Amino acid sequence: MRQHVNPLSKHFHEIESIPSLHELFENPELPLHLDIGCASGDFLFELALENTKWNYLGIEIREKLVKNAKSKLRDIGIRNLYFAFGNANNIFKNPNYKFLIDYVSSISFNFPDPWYKNKHHKRRVIQPDLISLLSNSMRKESLVFIKTDVKELFDYMDFTISNNLNFKQLQNIDLFYPESFNPKNIKTNREKYVMEKRLQIFERIYIKT
Ligand SMILES: C[S@@+](CC[C@H](N)C(=O)[O-])C[C@H]1O[C@@H](n2cnc3c(N)ncnc32)[C@H](O)[C@@H]1O
Repeated sequence: MRQHVNPLSKHFHEIESIPSLHELFENPELPLHLDIGCASGDFLFELALENTKWNYLGIEIREKLVKNAKSKLRDIGIRNLYFAFGNANNIFKNPNYKFLIDYVSSISFNFPDPWYKNKHHKRRVIQPDLISLLSNSMRKESLVFIKTDVKELFDYMDFTISNNLNFKQLQNIDLFYPESFNPKNIKTNREKYVMEKRLQIFERIYIKT
């Protein structure tokens, strides 16, 4: 079991500079998907190679993983994928990067760190102020995807997002996948592990109204 990184540590106050969409992607006009806590980026590499009509950006707080993903990206030469290092909460709160939220079509939070203890809940990536910030800037009909195998974390994330009146829960979520950032329903590494162990997965999609 790896030690979780404390996102509130001072180490993450500084943010690496993220270039403009024109510098990030070959075709900046394509719909943009953000994956928060993308770890090694395997999921995004698969998605970007499969769906060339989407741009993908992964944010990850473990610097080494981002360095490795960036080096793999240079080797393969994919131009619809980018990785940014840092605490996603700090990146989103930085006015320099508001353009990402303004433009994004969808955001996924796949199997975020659970931070079980009450006193550590503030380290969870989904926080009311983050959801409020997203709801104020995301475009109408853009989507937020959440997925976890931890029921208590799912309830917490669902409560936090549902409490924001600008997000509405989607029913029949399977209907949305074919048109989404992930039409073939590619699985993340954590999801593959959870499926192998036959654990339950809790997921939900919200639409910005
Ligand atoms: C349990 S792993 C899941 C990885 C991947 N999404 C998956 O489904 O396989 C959670 C990931 O989120 C990252 N993470 C945790 N808090 C974060 C934050 N505030 N900003 C960015 N990444 C974060 C962790 O370092 C870790 O790589």
